[in-house]
Amino acid sequence: MAHHNPWPDEGNTGHIWDEDIRELDNPPPLWWMLSFYAGFIMIVFYTLYYPTIPLTDELGGHTEGMAGWTQVNEYHEDYTVLKNWRVAKFADKEEKLASMSVTEIMADEELKSYAVATSKVLYGDYCAACHATGGAGNPNFPVLADDDWLWGGSVKQIEASLIQGRIGNMPAKGMMGNLTDQEIEDVTDYVIALSEGKGGDAAYAAGKAVYTKGMCLACHGPAGKPLAPAGAANLTDQVWRFSSDRDTVKNVIAYGVNVKKNGEYIKGTQKAVMPSFKERLPNADVNIKRLAVYVHSLGGGQ
Ligand code: HEC
Ligand code: HEC
Repeated sequence: MAHHNPWPDEGNTGHIWDEDIRELDNPPPLWWMLSFYAGFIMIVFYTLYYPTIPLTDELGGHTEGMAGWTQVNEYHEDYTVLKNWRVAKFADKEEKLASMSVTEIMADEELKSYAVATSKVLYGDYCAACHATGGAGNPNFPVLADDDWLWGGSVKQIEASLIQGRIGNMPAKGMMGNLTDQEIEDVTDYVIALSEGKGGDAAYAAGKAVYTKGMCLACHGPAGKPLAPAGAANLTDQVWRFSSDRDTVKNVIAYGVNVKKNGEYIKGTQKAVMPSFKERLPNADVNIKRLAVYVHSLGGGQ
C-alpha cells in the first residue's frame, strides 16, 4: 500500500495497491440502496408470512406463519392435482381394461402397451420377490420370461394362474407311492437321460420301466413331455424346475412336491405354491388382467 497519494482530489480513500489501483469512496447508486431497504422489508414480511423461526418444542415448535403454508402440504396438493389429472387422462383406458377380457386386450395394441407400461410397479411390489425382476426367476421360483410353462403360457392360462394360484402336485415315490429305493435310483437316471435326449438308450431300460410302473406318464406324458399343461414339468428339456443336480432330481421323485401329512410338509418335499392373487392385489379385477398381459409380454407368451 502506498502512502503517497498522487490523486488527492478524486475522493479516494488513500488505499492504493500496485501503484495505481485505488479504493474510491462513492455512495452506492440509488437503485441499489432502494433494493437494500426493500430487502429488509421483505425479511419482516417473510418472517411473518412463512414458517421461519425454529423454536424448541417447549416453545411450541417453529413459527407457523400467517399463510399456513408448508412444503409438505404444497407437495400433497400438487400430487393430488397430478393424480386427478392422470386418473382423468387414463380413465377411458382403465375402463376398457375393466370391461374387456385379457384376450380382447391382447388384440388391441395400444391397450396392450398401456397394460404393460402400467404393470412394472405392481409386478415389483407383488411378484418380483419370488419371480425376480423381469420374470428371470429365482431358485425354486419359476422363470416367467421363457416359453417353458407348467400351467400354460397363453394369456388366459397366465390369468388363471394369478386368479386361482397354483400348487404343484407331484406325488412322492410315483403315483401309488410304492417305488423302492432302487427303483427311485433307476428312474432318476432315466429322467436325467431324458433331458439329455438319451432316454431311448438300453442302459436306461430299467428306469424306463419304473417310469411306467410309477405312472409318471399320467402327468409327464409318455415321452416325458406333458400332453397338456397341468402343472407337471417337461422332463425332456434342460429347463429344471428345481435343479439339474442328481440329488435334487432324486429327492423330487422320492419326496414329491407339496406333499403334506396332517397339514405339515413332509421332510424333504419341495414346496412350490403360487399364491392366489384374487384377494391379495388391490383392484384385482383390473390388475390381474394387466399383470397377465405383462407376464405374457416378458418373452415366453404363447
Ligand atoms: C410367494 C412366492 C410367489 C409370489 C409372490 C408369486 N409367485 Fe408366481 N409362482 C410361484 C411358484 C412357486 C410358482 C410355481 C407353482 C408350481 O410349481 O406349480 C409360481 C407360478 C407362477 C406362474 C405359472 C408359471 C408356469 O410355468 O405356468 C405364473 C404365470 C406366475 N407364477 C405369475 C406370478 C405373478 C404375475 C405374480 C405377482 C402377482 C406372482 N406369480 C407372485 C411363487 C410366487
Ligand atoms: C400326479 C402327477 C404327477 C405324477 C404321477 C408324477 N409327477 Fe413328476 N411332477 C409333477 C408336477 C406337477 C411337477 C412340477 C412340480 C412343480 O414345479 O410344482 C413334477 C416335477 C417332477 C420333476 C422335477 C422336474 C424339474 O424340472 O425339476 C421330476 C424329476 C419328476 N417330476 C419326475 C417324476 C417321476 C420320475 C415320476 C414317476 C415316478 C413322476 N414325476 C410322477 C407331477 C407328477
